[in-house]
Amino acid sequence: MSENNINQFASLPYEYDALEPFIDKETMSVHHTKHHRAYYDKFIKAIEGTSLENMSVIDILKDLSVLPEDKKQAIINNGGGYFNHNFFWDILSPTSNKAPFEALEKEIVTSFESFENFKEKFKEKALTLFGSGWVWLVLNKEGKLEIIQTRNQDSAISLGLKPILALDVWEHAYYLKYQNKRAEYVDAFWNVVNWKQAEFLFNSYK
Ligand SMILES: [Fe+2]
Repeated sequence: MSENNINQFASLPYEYDALEPFIDKETMSVHHTKHHRAYYDKFIKAIEGTSLENMSVIDILKDLSVLPEDKKQAIINNGGGYFNHNFFWDILSPTSNKAPFEALEKEIVTSFESFENFKEKFKEKALTLFGSGWVWLVLNKEGKLEIIQTRNQDSAISLGLKPILALDVWEHAYYLKYQNKRAEYVDAFWNVVNWKQAEFLFNSYK
């Protein structure tokens, strides 16, 4: 992630049209400049004037139990929306390897039998998530790979999990191009996954 220690609204690490034809320019532009921006602005407003102002969004989300009650849900929604999208932009790439490699590839095969099987299970989680949310590949508390769903902007890091991959399955992430065809959006996602970033994250958790 490009902004681990400071809370700022960063540009995407590629152009809005860089993920075409899999994720279109208009979707990326609206997603970043409108949706992500709104989460960021509301997050900053929620922590304004509190001691949380000096903390990174990651540290804030890692322990929700210490958050002031009157700010808690706003931070879960908007801090989560801010962090989850930062994570998502970095896990996408116009120069995707198309498949995992090295240590993460081995672990995916160990955990899910094959990369194809992993993709099927990930897709199933994306298609069975009712409403809005995220699907994640994480290292769980036992240090094993697991595919999980979170609702709304709840973040995997708030559950004590270590995220490796994430897919935004809010309709705003795909509706302009794919309308109700979430399955096609998930299939397209595999063409733009930044497996180098996923591998980097996986190794960083060891
Ligand atoms: Fe989103």
